[in-house]
Amino acid sequence: MGNFKPKIDPALSDFAVSLAKRAGELVMRYYTAPKEIEQKGEIDLVTTADQASEELICSEIREKFSQHGILSEEGSSSQTEADWLWVVDPLDGTTNYAHRYPFFCVSIALQYKGVSQIGVVYEPLRGELFCAVRGQGAMVDGYPIQVSPTDKLSKSFLATGFAYDIRESSCDNLDNFSRFAKSAFAIRRGGSAALDLAYVACGRFDGFWELKLFPWDTAAGILLVEEAGGRTSRFSGDRFSISDRDILATNGRIHQEMMDTLSRSRMPE
Ligand code: IPD
Ligand code: CA
Ligand code: CA
Repeated sequence: MGNFKPKIDPALSDFAVSLAKRAGELVMRYYTAPKEIEQKGEIDLVTTADQASEELICSEIREKFSQHGILSEEGSSSQTEADWLWVVDPLDGTTNYAHRYPFFCVSIALQYKGVSQIGVVYEPLRGELFCAVRGQGAMVDGYPIQVSPTDKLSKSFLATGFAYDIRESSCDNLDNFSRFAKSAFAIRRGGSAALDLAYVACGRFDGFWELKLFPWDTAAGILLVEEAGGRTSRFSGDRFSISDRDILATNGRIHQEMMDTLSRSRMPE
C-alpha cells in the first residue's frame, strides 16, 4: 500500500451521498407498507427493502464505475479483489426496520486497497446524512462533527450489539456487556452498528464495541469516527481492518480504559 494517498474527486463523494439518500428514500417507501420478511437465520431477517436498496446501489455503482469492486451484504458482490471497492450495507438495522423501531440506516463506503476513503451513513427517518472523506474531516448535514470530550469510562455513554449467533455461541458479548454495565455511565444496544459508529463520530456516544460484525457494518462508520478525531482499533489496540471480528471505536480519551475491560473478552475462534 505504501504511503500513496489517492486523491478523492469531490464528484465521488457527491455520488456516494446522493446514492445513500436515494437508497434511504427507497427504504422509506417500504417502511409503512406491509413488508415481505424472510428469515436468513433463526433471528436474522431480510426484507424487500434490503434487497431493493442493494439493487439500486449496486446497479448505479456498476453503471458508473465498471472497474470498481462491490462488497455488499445481500449477495450482489463482484470483483471484490479490485483496488477500489465499494462496501455496502443497503439497510443496517433490519430487525429494527422490520419492527418499525426507528433506528436504521444505509451505509456506503469506498475503499482503496483496504482503507476507507469515503464513508456515508444516511438515516432516512431524521434525514441525517453523515459523511467523511479521508483527510477532510467528518460532517453531518454539511456541518463538521467531532467526537465527545468525555475522558472517563465511568462517565461514558456506550453502545454495542450482539451477533445473530447469540443463541448458539458462547462468544456472545454478554461478558463485556455485564462488565461495562457496571463500569460505564450507561449502555444502549441500538441495533444498527453503522449508526452507532456515526453517533460516536458526532459525540452522542463516547464509545462503541462489538464482536463478529461484517465489513459492510463498519467500513463507513470507522472513517466517520477517525475523521471526527476518534480512534478505532481491535480490542487489543491493534489496527482494525473491516475483515476483523472485534472492533472498538471511541473518542480516543476512553480507549485505553475500554481496552482494559475488553482484554478479558471471550473472543471468536
Ligand atoms: C446488524 C446491526 C446490529 C448488529 C448486528 C448486525 P443488519 O446488521 O448492525 O446492530 O448488532 O451484528 O448484523 O443485519 O441489521 O444489517
Ligand atoms: Ca449490518
Ligand atoms: Ca443489512
